[in-house]
Amino acid sequence: MKKKIGGIGLCMLAWSILTCAQTITPQAEQRAREIVSKMTLQEKIEYISGYTSFSLRAIPRLGIPEIKLADGPQGIRNHAPKSTLYPSGILSASTWNRSLLYQLGQGLGQDAKARGVNILLGPGVNIYRAPMCGRNFEYMSEDPYLTGKIATSVIKGVQSNDVAVCVKHFALNNQEKYRMTIDAKIEDRALYEIYLPAFKEALTEGNAYSLMCSYNKINGTYASENHRLLTEILRDEWNYDGVVISDWGAVHSTVPSALAGCDLEMSVTYNFDDYFFAKSLKEAVLNGEVPESVIDEKVARILLLQKRIKLYEGTRKRGEYSTTKHHRILLEAAGESIVLLKNDRNILPLDTKKCPKIAVIGDAAKRPLACGGGSSEATPLFEITPLMGINMVTGSHCIVKYAPGYYVDNEEHVTGDVDWQATSLDACDDEDCVTDTDAATADGTLNSPAKGNSKGIINSKAKKEALLNEAINLAKECDVVIYVGGLNRAYDTEGFDRTSYDLPYNQYEVIDALLKVKPDMVISILSGSAINLSPFNDKASAILWNSMAGMQGGLALAQTIFGDVNPSGKLPVSFPVQLSDCSAHSTGSYPCDDPNVADDQKTCTYSEGIYVGYRHYITNNVKPLYSFGYGLSYTSFEYSGLNINELNNNEYEVSFKVKNTGDVSGKEVCQLYVTANERTVDSPAIELKGFTKVNLNPGEQKECIITVNKDAFSYYSESSHGFICEPGSYTISIGSSSDKLILRKDINISVND
Ligand code: BGC
Repeated sequence: MKKKIGGIGLCMLAWSILTCAQTITPQAEQRAREIVSKMTLQEKIEYISGYTSFSLRAIPRLGIPEIKLADGPQGIRNHAPKSTLYPSGILSASTWNRSLLYQLGQGLGQDAKARGVNILLGPGVNIYRAPMCGRNFEYMSEDPYLTGKIATSVIKGVQSNDVAVCVKHFALNNQEKYRMTIDAKIEDRALYEIYLPAFKEALTEGNAYSLMCSYNKINGTYASENHRLLTEILRDEWNYDGVVISDWGAVHSTVPSALAGCDLEMSVTYNFDDYFFAKSLKEAVLNGEVPESVIDEKVARILLLQKRIKLYEGTRKRGEYSTTKHHRILLEAAGESIVLLKNDRNILPLDTKKCPKIAVIGDAAKRPLACGGGSSEATPLFEITPLMGINMVTGSHCIVKYAPGYYVDNEEHVTGDVDWQATSLDACDDEDCVTDTDAATADGTLNSPAKGNSKGIINSKAKKEALLNEAINLAKECDVVIYVGGLNRAYDTEGFDRTSYDLPYNQYEVIDALLKVKPDMVISILSGSAINLSPFNDKASAILWNSMAGMQGGLALAQTIFGDVNPSGKLPVSFPVQLSDCSAHSTGSYPCDDPNVADDQKTCTYSEGIYVGYRHYITNNVKPLYSFGYGLSYTSFEYSGLNINELNNNEYEVSFKVKNTGDVSGKEVCQLYVTANERTVDSPAIELKGFTKVNLNPGEQKECIITVNKDAFSYYSESSHGFICEPGSYTISIGSSSDKLILRKDINISVND
C-alpha cells in the first residue's frame, strides 16, 4: 500500500511538470516517454488492449488511473445506469446550428465527466452514402463539409469538459450489411473529397483526442491493419498524434495491426489475454517482429490523451448531469432539427383553439424512440413520446385520443430484445461472448419479421384490419389527425441494413385511408435516413421529418406542430423519389451482395465516385422528392445584396442580406455553394462550402458573412496526389437549399498550384 502511494506521488510530480502547459509540448512528450520507460514490457502490452470491454487498466505503481470508455454518441451508455439522451447525429446535422451543437457537446461532456467516463465513443462522421444503411441515424450527412462542421462543434463542446471524444468509424463504414468484412474499393478522388474530409476536420480543426477504426476493409486491407490509412494519411499527411482505438472486435492480426498504426485493441469478449494485442504481441516484440519502440509510441499516445483531458491536474472541470440547462439544450436541439417538408395552405401550425378533439395515430407516437438500436442505445432518464408531448402542449384545451393505426409485427426487434452486437460480430459464436441470440441473420439483414405459421398470418391480418378500422373511426370522430409513423429501432439500428425503402408495416395503407377521412392530416415521419414518401406525398398537405430526437423529442415535435417552435431544420440528406435514383444503387454498387461471392469475401466498388447525394442528383438531373438543404418555415425569407470581397491569401468574404418577410420570428439556414465553371476534370454542379443560421424577428434584416478560402475551389487530383486549385471562373451561389439558389456571382481565381 505504502509503495502504491509512493508511486502515485512520484508520478503526480512527474505529471505536474508535464501538465504546466495547456497543449502538448515537446517536454510533455518527453515526460510521457519517461513514464513509458518505467513500464515493463508486460505492463505496456497489458495497457494497449482492454482491461474490461469498456476500460483500460490502472497501473497504480506508476500512478496511472483506470480509463473508462463509453458509447456514445447520443448519451452515456456504459458506466451509467441511465443517461440524458441528445438528438442523434443526423438530427444534430439537420439543425445546421453550430453554436447550439457546441452546447450539446458540452452537455454530453459534462454528463460523461460526472459518470467518470474519460473517452466518449462518438461522434460518427461516416458519410451517408445510401439510404439503407442501418447506422445512418448515427452519422450526419451525405455532405462532407456539413458533417465536418457539425462534428467539430460537438467535439469541441465535449472536449471542453476534459473528456476525450473518439471519432468513428475510420473509414468507409457506409453500410452495416457485411460490415465486419466488406471490402470498400474506392479511388483516391472520392476518398479524399467525400469520405475523408469530415475525419480530417474532426481531428485537425476539432482536435479530437482519439479515433476509432472501422470493421471493414479498404481497398483490400482491414481498416485496423491499413497502413496507408492509419499511418500514411493519418500520421504523415494530417500529423495526427491522438490515439487510434480499434472498433470492438475489429482487429484481425497482431503484427500487421500493430505496425499499421492501431494503438489500442478493444473487443466485446472477455478473453483479454487472447487478444491480438496481448500475449501474441508480446511474443512478436520478443522475437523482433514488432520493435518495442512501436509499443512505446502507442502507450505514450494514451498517456498524452490523459494529459489532454487533464487527468492529473487539479483544474479538471467538474461534471454534472441532467441539469436544467442540459434539458433546455436538448429540447432546443430537437426543435431545431425538425424539418418541415410540406405545409400546403399553411395548415401548420395547428391552433389548439380550433381543434378541441385531436386524434393521434401511429405506433411511433407512443413508443419510446429517443435513440436508435445498437451501441448508441443508452437508457434515457425519461422520455417524452410524441403523444405525451402533444398532451403536454395542448393541455386542457383539447381532448387527445390515441390509436396505434398500424400493426408492428416484429416487436422483439423494436424493443431491443435482439442483441445487435452479439449477432453482428463473428467473434460471438464462442462462449466468451457477452450475449447471444438467434434472431438475426449473419449477413447483417434482419430476419423477415413476419415469421410464423399460417395461423400467425391470419392473426396478423385480423389485427391489421382491427387497428385500421379503429384508426379510421377515431379520425372521423376528431377535428384533426396527427399521424406519427416511420421507422423504429428495428430499422434504424447498428448491425443491419434495411431491405426496403418503403415505410414498414401497413403504414401506406393506413395513411391512405386516413387521408381520405382527413385530407389535412398532419404527417410526422421519424426515420434515421431518407424514406419513401412518394406514395402519399402528393395527397398529403403537411409533412414533417425527424428522427431519433433524444429524451425530449416528442415535446419538440408537439411544440413545432402547435407553433411554439418555428421549424428551422434543413435536410442533411436528399430524399430520392425512389431508391434506384440514388447513385450507389443506380451504379449497382450497393448493397454489393453478389451471390457468387462468399459473405466474408464481398467487395463493394464505389463506382459512383464523388457523385454522392446532391452531387449526383443535381449534376445528373435526377430530381429528388426533397433536396439536400431543404426545409420550410412558418415565415418567409428574402435574400439580397450579394457581395464578394477578395481578402488576402485567396480568401473571399461573401456577404449578403436576409430578411424575415413573414409574421413570426424564425431561423433561416443560408447555404453557400461553389460551382467550378472551367475545371479541367468533371466536377459536381455545386458543392456546399459554407453556411450560417440566422435568427430574425418579423421584418428584421441582417447581413450574413461567410468566408471561403482556396479549399472551397480545390479538387483532389489523382495524378498529383493532392488538392489542386485551378485558375478560372467559379460561381458562388447563396440559397435556402441545394435546389433553391437565390443569389449568384462569378469570380475569377488566378492562383495556380
Ligand atoms: C460499434 C462502435 C461502438 C462499439 C462499442 C461497436 O460494435 O461499431 O460504434 O462504439 O461497438 O460498443
